[in-house]
Amino acid sequence: MTATQPNIHDLLARRRPGHALEQPFYTSAEIYQLDLENIWYREWLYAIPACQLARAGSYVTLKIGDYNVIIVKGRDGEIRGFHNSCRHRGSIVCKAREGQVAKLVCPYHSWTYDLDGRLVWADKMNADFDPSQHGLRSVHLREVGGLVYICLAGNPPNFETFAQKAAPYLDVHDLGDAKVAYTSSIIEKGNWKLVWENNRECYHCSANHPSLCRSFPLDPEMSGIMPDGSVSEKLQAHFDRCTAAGAPAQFYLGEHGQFRLTRAPLEGDAVSYTMDGKVAVQKNLGRVPFADAGPLMVFHYPTTWNHFLPDHSLTFRVMPISPTETEVTTTWLVHKDAVEGVDYDLKRLTEVWIATNDEDREVVETNQLGVSTPAFVPGPYSDYWESGVIQFVDWYADAMERALGPSRMAAE
Ligand code: FES
Ligand SMILES: [Fe+2]
Repeated sequence: MTATQPNIHDLLARRRPGHALEQPFYTSAEIYQLDLENIWYREWLYAIPACQLARAGSYVTLKIGDYNVIIVKGRDGEIRGFHNSCRHRGSIVCKAREGQVAKLVCPYHSWTYDLDGRLVWADKMNADFDPSQHGLRSVHLREVGGLVYICLAGNPPNFETFAQKAAPYLDVHDLGDAKVAYTSSIIEKGNWKLVWENNRECYHCSANHPSLCRSFPLDPEMSGIMPDGSVSEKLQAHFDRCTAAGAPAQFYLGEHGQFRLTRAPLEGDAVSYTMDGKVAVQKNLGRVPFADAGPLMVFHYPTTWNHFLPDHSLTFRVMPISPTETEVTTTWLVHKDAVEGVDYDLKRLTEVWIATNDEDREVVETNQLGVSTPAFVPGPYSDYWESGVIQFVDWYADAMERALGPSRMAAE
């Protein structure tokens, strides 16, 4: 970095709590690289709903920074993760974003891997070549409640705490009985942290989300985290009602604030994210005991926020593309036996969040343009309306400080 660009340690040390981050956090290639190395290459990342891999040989590929990963379902039904780099001369093995194969065949010299990563065919190699030493390199992978997470780190951080806490909340949604009804991937021309900051408040909703506001309450208690940790009597009564009926609901914030679980009611009589607030799918996905339970909302930094409704579920995946570009992938899940055109209409199911995602893309891109100008000065967050943003930014800054470490900070 040049003398005029403070390094990340200085920037973190002088951060003003309750304020937006300074410009380099949203624009600098160096900090983007540090984000990748210290967060994206270290933490557990939400990848896909398990049901996206319908049968043996179904695979998806994911690009995370410089990494390329294959997630594939084996003939034993197990889902595994591998680095998408051939053990011969390193070619990408699976070029498509998703597909269906009998085996994983490298397009370069046709080295062939079984679905469990073992190298099973490599022609014309030396007599002493040992295929057993050249299987695909595996990527840590875990499933919780029908959701697949991966971790690129050699020694992944603890996943159990999240899995144990989230499993009872997810259980009632039966994601094992789900199928993908629709997936959308959009690129937002904004830093990944701006995408998250926007997600973590609904201060912007009334001015930007006419469709979503038909069902999603503006009350910051829905999207935020109350500064004093309090819960209103009305919301506590909802938690208690859902929990007593077998759908865990109590707000819970995980260690270091990395994940949150809560089930909160929608606006008025709304029961789903539709233009009229009525159900989107006639055949429910899951066993939520009443239609007005509202969404189970789960976020897990840095990759995902989710809404699990009584009739269908939505997962969102955030993936950084560059300092100023982020991919947001939305997946609509319905019961595997729900029939399009009979049990649900695809437009009705997807239109609210397709519109909302596009509106969010617009505000994030406009935000990025403004923070990129030399005149940008980080402004204050509202404690009440932007409590979730404060919580996200604090998590980010703390995670970076923990990862960068005091010794390294002192040495530089
Ligand atoms: S690089 Fe894959 S077979 Fe040669
Ligand atoms: Fe939004």
